[in-house]
Amino acid sequence: MKLLAIESSCDETAVAVVENGRNVLSSVIASQVEEHKLYGGVVPEIASRRHAESIVGITNQALEAANCKLEDIDAIAVTHAPGLIGALLVGVNFAKGLSMSTGLPLIPVHHLRSHIAANYITYKDLEPPFLSLVVSGGHSHIIEVKSYTDFNIIGKTRDDAAGEALDKAARTMGLPYPGGLNLDKASQNGNINAYKMPRPRVDGSEYDFSFSGLKTAVINTIHNAQQKGENIDVADMAASFINAVVVCLTENLEKAAKEYGYTKIALAGGVSANSMLRARCEQICKNNGWQLYLPELSLCGDNAAMVGSQGYYEYLAGNIAKLDLNAKASLPIDYEICK
Ligand code: KG4
Ligand code: ZN
Repeated sequence: MKLLAIESSCDETAVAVVENGRNVLSSVIASQVEEHKLYGGVVPEIASRRHAESIVGITNQALEAANCKLEDIDAIAVTHAPGLIGALLVGVNFAKGLSMSTGLPLIPVHHLRSHIAANYITYKDLEPPFLSLVVSGGHSHIIEVKSYTDFNIIGKTRDDAAGEALDKAARTMGLPYPGGLNLDKASQNGNINAYKMPRPRVDGSEYDFSFSGLKTAVINTIHNAQQKGENIDVADMAASFINAVVVCLTENLEKAAKEYGYTKIALAGGVSANSMLRARCEQICKNNGWQLYLPELSLCGDNAAMVGSQGYYEYLAGNIAKLDLNAKASLPIDYEICK
């Protein structure tokens, strides 16, 4: 079964053709990063307009690269939530138009579910159940993946997402957008113990995160140094800050895996590209004798191949949308499917 998959939840317009959830026949991404770089972050209205301009061309490229015509496609999958509403609406409406004109089923795909599914493409034999740490620009979750379409949130951030905190720290250090990636690069020769970072406390759930205090700490340290005319060592600061975020993420992940009895761990989302996070997870899994799944770097950020993968399993579970499908800026990963 071949799916045409569409992703437009943030600043990448992406279309892919994916066979049976695992085999990527084509995956085309038009990134808007150079334009948003001018403003230091994603400007939602610009993102929507660029999606509208490029979505038809990117779809044609994806079909051509897969050596397919629309007649060869069996269903249309589209990211419908969560994300920037204006950006999502471009993909959703385009997918609805395609579904209406071809009569093909329309499959709604949750963005975080698709990030997890990036692992199904990298590891053809990976099947649920497993535990996933989903870390992106907007979300930080520890999730039980009970089946392809059954999820249970064990822990989540109470305030900022990990990616959001990394982006903000990078910006304060004067690093260009996209912050997380440039912070990762800057940290490569840094000392993780050079700057002392607070250890955030979260009352209530032992698996929840809080990153806003860490973010404020790094901003204050930099501003104080600037006022005193002192220089900040960017490599050391980047390494110390990323380490603080990674410690929070991995401590809770390890605790959750032990408590819930998982020995298969999968990372997902844009921040799963981070070199320190990947290395620390490798160490933890090695120490415990667990199996670690890391999506290949090209599948960590937003792309449509992962939408085509998750879309296949949504289709098998009967998650088919009607043509009044709407985009949603927020939607929990464990939402109820209306059949
Ligand atoms: O999943 P994603 O591409 O988009 C959302 O769904 O939000 O995640 C984007 C986030 C951004 O915060 C970006 O800075 C972060 O992922 N990111 C990284 C790295 N590459 C991207 N963070 C740390 N290290 C990286 N190498
Ligand atoms: Zn994403």
